[in-house]
Amino acid sequence: MESKTIGKKVACVTGGTGYMASQLVKCLLQKGYSVNTTARDPDNQKKIPHLVELQNSGDLKIFKADLTDEGSFDAAIAGCDLVFHVATPVHFESKDPENDMIKPAVQGTLSVLKSCVKAGTVKRVVLTSSAAAVSINKLNGTGLVMNEECWTDVEFLESEKPPTWGYPASKALAEKAAWKFAEENKIDLITIIPSLMAGPSLTPDVPSSTCLAMSLFLGNEFLINGMKGMQMLSGSISMAHVEDVCRAHIFVAEKESASGRYICCLINTSVTELAEFLNKRYPDYKIPTDFGDFPAKAKLIISSEKLIKEGFSFKYGIEEIYDQTIEYFKAKGMLKQ
Ligand SMILES: NC(=O)c1ccc[n+]([C@@H]2O[C@H](COP(=O)([O-])OP(=O)(O)OC[C@H]3O[C@@H](n4cnc5c(N)ncnc54)[C@H](OP(=O)(O)O)[C@@H]3O)[C@@H](O)[C@H]2O)c1
Repeated sequence: MESKTIGKKVACVTGGTGYMASQLVKCLLQKGYSVNTTARDPDNQKKIPHLVELQNSGDLKIFKADLTDEGSFDAAIAGCDLVFHVATPVHFESKDPENDMIKPAVQGTLSVLKSCVKAGTVKRVVLTSSAAAVSINKLNGTGLVMNEECWTDVEFLESEKPPTWGYPASKALAEKAAWKFAEENKIDLITIIPSLMAGPSLTPDVPSSTCLAMSLFLGNEFLINGMKGMQMLSGSISMAHVEDVCRAHIFVAEKESASGRYICCLINTSVTELAEFLNKRYPDYKIPTDFGDFPAKAKLIISSEKLIKEGFSFKYGIEEIYDQTIEYFKAKGMLKQ
């Protein structure tokens, strides 16, 4: 069934239940798009209430689709002008990353792109990649600058298997597979490469990336170690507001001259520098700032220069990211009022 509505552009967003995708659906509806989104289980009342709510604010249809089920995105993508492929398997604790993350991410991305070819109406595809597909390498030093020409060293991940290696490997391999398929099939593909996202979520559950960003407030050792692990593996703590990441997706989708990869990152810092900033700005929370021997400086920065030169500007600074995320965590009962 075609979903084209006369006069309205139709966009598909895969994985609409997720943190960023649901925000993207909201932004697209606000801009007047008709939106088709997908969920693995549209009947799961615990996962879709925010999408049902969004149906009150615009033309939003929810389709069933799974990255592991080839062809299942056909119906959601048929008749669409734009496709935003956001869904990805996330299992940081997986004992079998190859089957839990890498295969479904790569095969699922190809499946979505095949559905775009079949549709014959799709003018541009925007794929959500990750800074984890860019910045992981064996280089030493500080002040390294990573741009869109940089790729994570997948061989290093596969041979050394550092904690959570499967996720960055899945993102790098899925993005590489997408570029190859797009070239072979003449798809106009753009990738957005976001850093860690924070800011309020529409989802019923609090997203794990916001918990990571808030680890110093929560005082949760496991999450603080996750932040430290992120700095050690990715080379920095790099962040952006989820809404800005969504704005960047729509910006490159609509901008005729846009092409290739775009890093979307507001700020690059380290655990220590972030803690010092948060301690000063929110003294009531008594954020710890002493991390012993842990490297105080980030190894690298990931640069959004290309996106900014294209004409994009970030709406939210780091102060607003944290002001809003703190309020969100209070509203969810995860921080004291
Ligand atoms: N969050 C961050 O800080 C961050 C940073 C950089 C890049 N990214 C990228 O941004 C995108 C969105 O991230 P997020 O944090 O918003 O993700 P999220 O909230 O964890 O959502 C992931 C989505 O993927 C879907 N999904 C997982 N496995 C699937 C499968 N087999 N078939 C179909 N759908 C499947 C999930 O659907 P179900 O509801 O059915 O489980 C969910 O909607 C991802 O591509 C991620 O790699 C995120």
